[in-house]
Amino acid sequence: MLVIAHRGASGYAPENSLTAIAKAIEMQVDAIEIDLHCIEGELLVIHDRWLHRTTRASGQLRDYSLEALRQIDAGDGHPIPTLWEVLSLIDGQTDLNLELKCENALLPTLKTLDRAVTEQNFTPGQFLISSFNHHLLNESVTIQPKYATGALTASCPIDYATFAQTLGCYAIHLDIDFVNQAFVKDAHQRGLKVFVYTVDEPADIAFLEELGVDGIFSNYPDRALHSVKQSGD
Ligand code: G3P
Ligand code: MG
Repeated sequence: MLVIAHRGASGYAPENSLTAIAKAIEMQVDAIEIDLHCIEGELLVIHDRWLHRTTRASGQLRDYSLEALRQIDAGDGHPIPTLWEVLSLIDGQTDLNLELKCENALLPTLKTLDRAVTEQNFTPGQFLISSFNHHLLNESVTIQPKYATGALTASCPIDYATFAQTLGCYAIHLDIDFVNQAFVKDAHQRGLKVFVYTVDEPADIAFLEELGVDGIFSNYPDRALHSVKQSGD
């Protein structure tokens, strides 16, 4: 079972910060998940539209110029990172899951990943683009099929993983509250991987290993790696 650092090693450092990314690399995670917004064509690594939860600023991202946003501390003494800064830090050392939080993030993301494959030590297979906006995933597969996609859902649809197969996805990214054996079985029968978020408790990890899921997103990836190693999976 793969362990994916959720928003970096966000249990130990401010989420989506360069420090959280660096800690996840140190922990030798299988992959890192980050959230992306796009302002003035620049990709910023931050989860919320609103700034108050993760920074000392207030208001929404769209209330600020890119220049002003780049002055805001992400919580670790560094500015809110750009995607390029995160890619430069990772430089192919781990895989990266890019969760698109807004519609205008897709095209700049594809362009930035192409640049990372050319200028850094990444291969296209190290990237996984995900979103709750399935239209974006459809568009991504059409424009650039070399980057795998993961369909996010916080539901247990009536026809299980059918939608992800229809979208040509590689994986389904599922909220732990909605995972069950039938869903996992259906996804696997359709050739889809199942990655579950957000998983920090040993009992949840044991339950998901029992279900045979392929990976988990964790805020405490070192603990998750330890549990997974102990069970020999
Ligand atoms: O990508 C998995 C998970 O991060 C999805 O939900 O709200 O944490 O971005 P959220
Ligand atoms: Mg996310």
